[in-house]
Amino acid sequence: MHSRSPRAASRNFDSAHFRKALSQFATGVTIITTRLEDGSLIGLTASSFNSVSLTPPLVLWSLGEKSSSMPVFSGNSHYVINILGAEQAGLAEQFSRKSGDRFKGVEYALSRTGQPILKGVSAWFECHNRSRYPEGDHVIFVGEVEHCEVSPQAPLIYHNGQFTKTMG
Ligand SMILES: Cc1cc2nc3c(=O)[nH]c(=O)nc-3n(C[C@H](O)[C@H](O)[C@H](O)COP(=O)(O)O)c2cc1C
Repeated sequence: MHSRSPRAASRNFDSAHFRKALSQFATGVTIITTRLEDGSLIGLTASSFNSVSLTPPLVLWSLGEKSSSMPVFSGNSHYVINILGAEQAGLAEQFSRKSGDRFKGVEYALSRTGQPILKGVSAWFECHNRSRYPEGDHVIFVGEVEHCEVSPQAPLIYHNGQFTKTMG
């Protein structure tokens, strides 16, 4: 029973050490995009993407609670998770910058619900914004996939703070 589970023991590591250990987990890289009613586009780079369920098709990602994108992603009904291609490290950097127009020079099409699908991605998932779970300093977003597509483009990989094209 959860109520009888012992509490976590006190920690003997700091945040930098925790991040270093986490960085050994190689991931793909996504840009998560959505559109406001006035037509303006929102997106950010996120490596916290993962699968949750096959039936129904569910995925998750997490967003920092202080992110400038939080109000938009909390309120919008849909977003697209773009899985970046091997040649798109520059886009990953562009969509993680604090200032400037992240969509400047970016080619995209609009999904059925009007969310930006970036050109040249390895795959994309159009998600209904199904549920959100605040945990620690992030909010876990669970998306229900309504549409997804795959391209032959190899994916970009993120490992130990670096973008790579192949595992190694
Ligand atoms: C490779 C990479 C992965 C990232 N993954 C996440 C993530 O999963 N969740 C998140 O909230 N921010 C993530 N970020 C940071 C965001 O892209 C962005 O820098 C951050 O949200 C700051 O901008 P904001 O305040 O406008 O949101 C990642 C950045 C990089 C470069």
